[in-house]
Amino acid sequence: MSKVPPKLSGDPETTGHSWDGIEEFNNPLPRWWVWVFYLTIVWGIGYTIAYPAWPMINGATAGVLGYSTRAQVAEEIAAVDAANKAINDKLAAADLTAVSGDPELNGYAVSAGGAVFKTWCAQCHGAGAAGAKGYPNLLDDDWLWGGDIEAIHTTISHGIRNTEDDEARYSMMPAFGRDGLLEPAQIDEVANFVQSLSGTPDDASKVEAGATVFADNCASCHGEKGEGMREQGAPNLSDAIWLYGGDHATLVQTITNARFGVMPAWAGRLSEAEVRAVALYVHQLGGGE
Ligand code: HEC
Ligand code: HEC
Repeated sequence: MSKVPPKLSGDPETTGHSWDGIEEFNNPLPRWWVWVFYLTIVWGIGYTIAYPAWPMINGATAGVLGYSTRAQVAEEIAAVDAANKAINDKLAAADLTAVSGDPELNGYAVSAGGAVFKTWCAQCHGAGAAGAKGYPNLLDDDWLWGGDIEAIHTTISHGIRNTEDDEARYSMMPAFGRDGLLEPAQIDEVANFVQSLSGTPDDASKVEAGATVFADNCASCHGEKGEGMREQGAPNLSDAIWLYGGDHATLVQTITNARFGVMPAWAGRLSEAEVRAVALYVHQLGGGE
């Protein structure tokens, strides 16, 4: 049992609690502290009246000041748009091939285009535009549909093989195996021939037969030497740059089932100035013609 020390006459009231002989004084809270405490309560209630706060069934109370973060962002965006209106109008009306000769407009377009790219294009083409399997690298000078600024602008505006834009770039490689246009043995041969265009075939003895299959079935789109054809969006097969892959197994798969790369159209999603900005951005990445 702990021994409670005797009470001294000068000691304040205690609460009556005692732990191991230590008693709790019943001192009033300092005045200033109490007032600050009441003030915070008043402030808190005032805050929930002034600003959006209380959860309701379909949202929260709006607050008498009418503040909303969404409206604030919209306001800031509108302010930036207004500040850029003149240069955006100029960009939307400019002759695309002449923009690079106007350092101010070009500088604006490239940095605005870079921002558009990171928001809308990086998911498929990669943050650095280096692409991925099925998504072309936009840094090199190997173009499916064309690498001058007008061609790039058209590709981005209308997209590729999508169903949303009537002017989308379109072509379709036949599924030679799946649709029975070629025998598996012929596909094996032509795959070896395609390999021979840029490297070493799996089986050199099949290259010659593959060349015949190629001339009869593939040259109309990919060109006689496999150099590709932009009107068809048909890749160059002789440059060792592959959209889907250049090993034997991948080639057999491509020729058997074909490929059908789709890109959305951007003309309806972005403003003309934004489409032009991102086209100029892509054009100056290194491969622009
Ligand atoms: C949903 C995925 C996707 C998004 C998003 C996308 N692309 Fe593409 N893009 C593709 C595919 C797939 C191709 C290749 C289509 C083909 O096989 O011909 C392509 C092709 C291109 C080409 C043609 C390249 C060439 O060699 O001719 C350009 C230029 C291009 N994209 C730019 C852009 C820009 C700029 C954006 C953003 C505004 C964008 N893409 C957004 C999927 C996408
Ligand atoms: C009607 C035109 C057409 C014909 C005919 C055609 N192709 Fe293609 N080929 C294309 C197109 C277009 C693509 C690109 C598809 C895409 O981007 O999704 C392609 C893609 C390819 C690829 C992928 C290249 C890469 O970089 O990964 C290979 C390989 C290929 N074709 C081989 C052939 C062979 C072999 C034949 C003949 C047996 C053939 N093609 C016939 C249009 C054609």
